Amino acid sequence: MEIAKIHGGNSLHGTVHVSGSKNSSLAILAATLLTSEPCIIDNVPDVSDICVVLQLLQSVGACVEYVTRNKIKICAKHINNSLPEDLFIKTRGAISIAGAMLARLGEADIFMPGGCSIGSRPIDLHLAGFQKLGFNVSQKNNKISITSSKNHNKNIFLGSKSGSTVTGTINMIFASCGIPGNTTIDGAACEPEILDLCNFLEKIGVILHGAGTPTVTVSGMQTLNGCEHKVIGDRIEAGTFICASLITKGEIKITGCEQNMLGSTINFLNNAGANITESKDCIHVETCKQLNGVEAITLPYPGFATDVQAQVLTTLTQAHGQSEITEIIYPKRFGHVSELNKMGANIQVHGATALIPGNTPLTGTDVFASDLRASASLYLAGLVARGTTIVHELQHLDRGYDRFEQKLKLLGADIERTNQ
Ligand code: EPU
Repeated sequence: MEIAKIHGGNSLHGTVHVSGSKNSSLAILAATLLTSEPCIIDNVPDVSDICVVLQLLQSVGACVEYVTRNKIKICAKHINNSLPEDLFIKTRGAISIAGAMLARLGEADIFMPGGCSIGSRPIDLHLAGFQKLGFNVSQKNNKISITSSKNHNKNIFLGSKSGSTVTGTINMIFASCGIPGNTTIDGAACEPEILDLCNFLEKIGVILHGAGTPTVTVSGMQTLNGCEHKVIGDRIEAGTFICASLITKGEIKITGCEQNMLGSTINFLNNAGANITESKDCIHVETCKQLNGVEAITLPYPGFATDVQAQVLTTLTQAHGQSEITEIIYPKRFGHVSELNKMGANIQVHGATALIPGNTPLTGTDVFASDLRASASLYLAGLVARGTTIVHELQHLDRGYDRFEQKLKLLGADIERTNQ
């Protein structure tokens, strides 16, 4: 088993280029099943979640060919409805394949995703959405069969108490591509990854309106072609490096991602005393002598993103004064807190709210990652801790960060990945 050893104390300086967005890539790779023509997708991060989805595409008959490390050619000339369960349940990103298969084949057999360490991740909104669109949904044990019907609704509402669903929106857009005429999805998620996906869909010939807004209309049953598409930069990786700069009191420039994709996350960090600006295609994080404690609530885009909550929370352990973070999207997404507390953070969690006392010196020790973003947050803690932090369970990090240690090292971090 591999571990990461981080010797804390170095502040980070320099320029880092973020990889392509993992979540955007997952959606766009699934979308290549909509067309029988070849598609070339560039800027795909080399991470394990992507490998799983590529294997799933192959298992339903698509040809997958690496052009370069981050550029992939996919040709789904003929596909079949045979997703293997063991592979399907490995990543949440696989769920979007359902909608693409429905549009292309009129049927999809999928499986209930397993439990997840960031809390319950149901798919009821996906299944209800398919039903509202007029598809038949039946479940036997872990297997869910979705089939097309002759009657389709032209207008559905997808929202829920916690906002909309990102992959659910993607599934509804995909499924609508196979329905004749116009289908309108209200309560659609507005995350930048959905806009990127819609840009790809337009390139292959899908006609749609309202991409990136809560109301998306898709004109289905168009003849689709192939295309080349470059995936947007990973805003969550950019957010992670912003936190790495702030927590080490460094100064870094981040290229490959636009600041507005981080929505209000930047605003509230700036309100806490950071100085993050954008110029000439790069995000500039200036040295911040002292952050102040803040209150923050995770929300759908453009609100404070749940996927940077762990990294921001860790950064706030070094702020002046107490902070309070409430996690609305995944109320149990605090797996990092017990590990940070082993390092001395003294954070308390009450329900969905974490109280972070601030000004807490951290001390290196053995810590165990519980999920993707929690792993990154433990690296950040290690960067500022006294002594050596050893991060275990790196398979979580590898799901979504492409060459994270190399990038941190180039910025001056003292970090190595070795076998235990
Ligand atoms: N929800 C339901 N029922 C559903 C679907 C979602 O109740 O059928 C709830 C969820 O429990 C959650 C909220 O709706 O409270 C939003 O979940 P959403 O469906 O939007 O999440 P997702 O589509 O499964 C994507 C990203 C996540 C990211 C969330 C929120 C992918 C592959 N995953 O998940 O990314 O946290 O949107 O922005 O796109 C990550 O990259 O670390 C990650 C977890």
